[in-house]
Amino acid sequence: MYKVGQAEIEALTRVIESGALFRYGVGHECDTFERRYADYLGVKHFALAASGSNALAAAMAAVGIGPGDEVIIPAHTYMATATSVLTCGAIPLIVDIDESITIDPKAIEAAIGPRTRAIVPVHMWGAACDMDAIMEIANRRNLIVIEDACQGVGGGYKGRKFGAVGHIGAFSFNYYKNMTCGEGGGVAVNDDSLAERARCAIDPCHFYWQGRSDAVQPFSGNGARASELMGAMLNVQLDRIDPMIAAMRAEKKAILQATSSLGNLGLKQTPMHSPDDDCATHVMYNLPTPEAAKRFVELYPCVIVGKTGRHNYTEWDQILMGAGAAHPAMNPFAMPANAECRKRYSKDMCAKSLEILNRTVMVPTHPDHTAADIDAIVNNITAAARVALGEAAETEAVFRPAPALDAQKFDMQVDG
Ligand SMILES: Cc1ncc(COP(=O)(O)O)c(C=O)c1O
Repeated sequence: MYKVGQAEIEALTRVIESGALFRYGVGHECDTFERRYADYLGVKHFALAASGSNALAAAMAAVGIGPGDEVIIPAHTYMATATSVLTCGAIPLIVDIDESITIDPKAIEAAIGPRTRAIVPVHMWGAACDMDAIMEIANRRNLIVIEDACQGVGGGYKGRKFGAVGHIGAFSFNYYKNMTCGEGGGVAVNDDSLAERARCAIDPCHFYWQGRSDAVQPFSGNGARASELMGAMLNVQLDRIDPMIAAMRAEKKAILQATSSLGNLGLKQTPMHSPDDDCATHVMYNLPTPEAAKRFVELYPCVIVGKTGRHNYTEWDQILMGAGAAHPAMNPFAMPANAECRKRYSKDMCAKSLEILNRTVMVPTHPDHTAADIDAIVNNITAAARVALGEAAETEAVFRPAPALDAQKFDMQVDG
């Protein structure tokens, strides 16, 4: 959450006073947001849901992912990317990321097998995946691309918005996301019948209010309908997103420019696939070793990407335990239809990703950072890098007060 204020209070008050809290029949906030956000993304349809997890599962259900399918996902993402595959009865295939900290197209290519049906690129921490390479592989190998844009609201890839580049996209509007209504999410798609299927997955009863299209066969699923309070808040948040992202892009550019010469010491800017279009919510650097990264964050408190807990496959308990559903008979790991899918998981299966993540650090940007804050951040990055990379003694380093970190957002693990 970056900004919530009087405009949100007024929008929520208006909806509460009107009593029109339900999106169908009485309210219009969700409909308005869906139209506006679809236009913003440059897609034909956007379907609101109660969370990003629901949205991802709905996107997968919409494109027909199910038992017998493998879905390629990256080793670094929130666990919901993996659980949404299981929700559809399919099997997540975890592959390496590269130094951009997003899924490695070479790892995708190497992992494709006879059962592979889809790829989920995740724009982690707002950084763009290599979508040209991923779409080329998908087209050549006849795979579906489901973009996990849950951390990518407001960002894009080479002039197009995240979530609008693949065949279908999913967003989250939870508390930690660039645009928020507390919880929430949604599916972005161009195809009319996929949109109808996504709406059915989000709310299998929606036709009671909206009518049923004869063209699309309905199916059962869990309800994850958004409320008018969510729609009202998102309508306000959508007005805020572009100036906020613009401020963070300017901050990221300023920090990267001012610290570019530190690359010679070993503080290398991570490769970026769309530096002018991504969300710019974080500035990231690869260091030569995990020890250097650890020393860097001791000196300047920021985040080692590999220490953000829940975002690394090593922390996804249900996946590692093979617990794919509440009822054993519905567990995709045990379904006969998945007998030929690959489903071996271990904590060291993506050792290359862990090595990269443990030597990559990120410094969050913020739309409210002032020029003085940015100066202090640049000063502290420089001072920490010089000491961590052996160019200066700690006694020579002068650190300035800089904006504090939201430790809960990053769920930081501290090594003993
Ligand atoms: C990459 C990614 N995918 C999916 C999700 C799931 O979204 P939600 O928490 O709204 O269910 C998140 C949320 O943190 C996420 O970061």
